[in-house]
Amino acid sequence: MQVLTTITETRAVLDAARQSGATVGLFPTMGALHDGHATLMRKARVECDVAVVSIFVNPLQFGEDEDLARYPRDLSADAALAESIGIDVIFAPSVEEMYPRPVVTAVALQSLAATMEGASRPGHFTGVATVVAKLFNIAGPCRAYFSEKDFQQLAIVSRMAQDLSFPVEVVRCPFVREPDGLAMSSRNVFLNADERAASTVLFRALETGAAMVLAGEIDPDRVRGAVASVIEQEPIANIDYVEVVDVSTLAQPATLRGELRLLVAARFGATRLLDNLGVVVPEQH
Ligand code: PAJ
Repeated sequence: MQVLTTITETRAVLDAARQSGATVGLFPTMGALHDGHATLMRKARVECDVAVVSIFVNPLQFGEDEDLARYPRDLSADAALAESIGIDVIFAPSVEEMYPRPVVTAVALQSLAATMEGASRPGHFTGVATVVAKLFNIAGPCRAYFSEKDFQQLAIVSRMAQDLSFPVEVVRCPFVREPDGLAMSSRNVFLNADERAASTVLFRALETGAAMVLAGEIDPDRVRGAVASVIEQEPIANIDYVEVVDVSTLAQPATLRGELRLLVAARFGATRLLDNLGVVVPEQH
């Protein structure tokens, strides 16, 4: 496995691979890799000839009062995990390599980025889309792996690749939970024992909402209310949002139909956790 830190070297390695007929798989991450990341690394490993993991804690996507400084970083553990999976290349650039000068060019986003994470974290998705656009330009034609854990991010990145004609196929992947239901996340290490115990409420709340939809509830506000009231039973949890949206528009339909996603964000102490769950409205007979 090669650990590369410059854009020039990474481009050269991947261009040479493609010239010899190999396909390239890119898995963009911010490191602190866990078993959820490992699942996507294995998928990229199996589906592509050359599998690349990028590790870059992207300052552009963090707000001023957010956790950029304390975001977990452990390149040697990440490299060991990637190597054990058979990843060919790690691209781990410095901030200076990615942003040698203040950024004056960024990816502007409209509807998909206005709500949920976009509303709670102003500028976040412009930062994500800009770094992902750079990574796509550095990697070149490839398959790029993103998970539904960050459902809105996945929708935005897929749409950006199409809107801006990147020669990249965005591959949508499911995400991995702990045995008790907590979605795996690099930020879970920040939870103390009480917060960790309380955090399982998110998945239970989403399951409650999905069960209501499957039982015939078509009023989105009633579903959101039920999800919120499960979370509120956990006094430590502080809800940021609860939404039920159409998967393609990410907007709340007036009445629930078709393929939906339930999404929540909540704080447990200083740690903000996201979770989401898909549900399809049953056909009426
Ligand atoms: P990061 O949070 O490190 O996530 C990298 C990728 O791993 C994303 O596609 C994310 O959805 C996926 N992932 C996170 N938790 C997962 C889980 N439990 N199971 C499976 N996959 C999971 O998302 C980012 O980094 C950044 O915003 C990035 C796209 C790299 C741009 O900076």
